Amino acid sequence: MTLEAIRYRAGSLQILNQLLLPHQTVYDDLRSVQDAYEAIKSMKVRGAPAIAIVGCLSLAVELRAGAGGDDPVNFIRESLYHLTSARPTAVNMGRAARELMEFAENESMEKNSEQLRESVIAWIEDMLERDVNDNKKIGNYGAQHILSGVPRDSVTILTHCNTGSLATAGYGTALGVVRSLHALARLKRVYCTETRPYNQGSRLTAYEAVAEGIPATLITDSMAALTMREMNISAVVVGADRVVANGDTANKVGTYQLAIAAKHHGVPFYVAAPSTSCDLSLESGKDIIIEVRPPEELTSINGVPIAAPGIEVWNPAFDVTPHQLITGGIITELGVFLPSELQAALTGRLTAL
Ligand code: MRU
Repeated sequence: MTLEAIRYRAGSLQILNQLLLPHQTVYDDLRSVQDAYEAIKSMKVRGAPAIAIVGCLSLAVELRAGAGGDDPVNFIRESLYHLTSARPTAVNMGRAARELMEFAENESMEKNSEQLRESVIAWIEDMLERDVNDNKKIGNYGAQHILSGVPRDSVTILTHCNTGSLATAGYGTALGVVRSLHALARLKRVYCTETRPYNQGSRLTAYEAVAEGIPATLITDSMAALTMREMNISAVVVGADRVVANGDTANKVGTYQLAIAAKHHGVPFYVAAPSTSCDLSLESGKDIIIEVRPPEELTSINGVPIAAPGIEVWNPAFDVTPHQLITGGIITELGVFLPSELQAALTGRLTAL
């Protein structure tokens, strides 16, 4: 069974509402860029690649209905600007916006409004296929790299947040590596962290693992160091919202402490991300803007209060893992690189941001 987080047919877009998972499977229609903006902001859809794909597909839906009239370029520019502002940390939406805008401007030199709309829609539709293909390559490169350290054994992986089919166009990044290991019959077990405060691990990764029969065990975030010591973890594999030039990586809050614990226990720590999640325009992680989310995500669960009323809350959605702690490597669709090799590997392959 393959989970379909994004359902797109020419002119119509639906997303699996991730606020309701795992208990209800409800697809919401997104009819406009504004609908997509709200779905991204409220985290009905989340995960760096999925945010970009859903944002751009919502634009394709509006363009197919003739949005932008005689000036589609202006409509595209304003829409992309709006979508990029929904969640600031993941670079994917900003990168897609930059590339799409450049494409639209070039096309507008020689095409009329109708032709321009058609070619922009085709560019956007292509994103779905490209993302799944890239994820499969990431899965394969990651699995081979991890297995090269253990020629005959099955491996035990620890992962964080949700980086699977629900966070991408399909297959996933870090969870794609887990899927590939499972497909090779070399995955003993994956430990997935609960991922407080939003519980992407217990709600979403656990849901994907159960649905596909991947051997998985849920742990609380505070059990990670103990799990590394007791459960013979072969590697930690996480996703990324933004990997910058020196390899510093922003990902779901809690990633940083996993990397510290992995270093202490001698467990290789990998980041799995498509090159579209890389941002060579920033030199180090201190330049990354970290999204701070509402206090209610900590103080209540499904509307039920769990914290002492009146307590002050700090709720950053992401943290930055310094490149020195990414000891296994950065797994991309182009191969696996040490943080120090990333910039050279990607230069010339990524458009400037
Ligand atoms: O706040 P979220 O759920 O959007 O955070 C998701 C993550 O941090 C993922 O690890 C990252 O976006 C990569 S998803 C392939």
